[in-house]
Amino acid sequence: VAIHVINGPNLNLLGRREPETYGHASLADLEARIAKRAKALGVSVTFMQSNHEGALVDAVQAAGLAGAGVIINPGAYTHTSIALRDAIAGVGALVVEVHLSNIHAREPFRHSSHVSPVAVGVICGLGPLGYELALEALAPLVRSRTG
Ligand code: DQA
Repeated sequence: VAIHVINGPNLNLLGRREPETYGHASLADLEARIAKRAKALGVSVTFMQSNHEGALVDAVQAAGLAGAGVIINPGAYTHTSIALRDAIAGVGALVVEVHLSNIHAREPFRHSSHVSPVAVGVICGLGPLGYELALEALAPLVRSRTG
């Protein structure tokens, strides 16, 4: 089972970026934690992060066309990107949307997501653990799709 973990804009700044909201762990720390859990679950994970909407669209398309599952934290593109939503729908990617913070407890502009309607599930507010839970949920779904 292959799962691509895709992080969007500004998540390269994890650890130094608004730590009261996003915590003190860096993106490398986060990815190491996910990799450890993936190993325990027997899942093969790959990671990418980009600040560019088109690069995220390319990554979602590639993962979907390869039959891989996708865990995505689209960052602020969550709230703005119809292109990302269309990419997921266009390739029929199995996607779990993750946010470190509870977007519903924050500013009103963070309450809506273009990605949620095309995701199999959404996890927010649980910090890095959310990615691990997403992995656990997605692995059997990808496994049953790819056989
Ligand atoms: C975020 C929430 C978004 O609203 C914000 O723009 C981010 C991070 C989160 O992980 O909590 O960049 O996706």
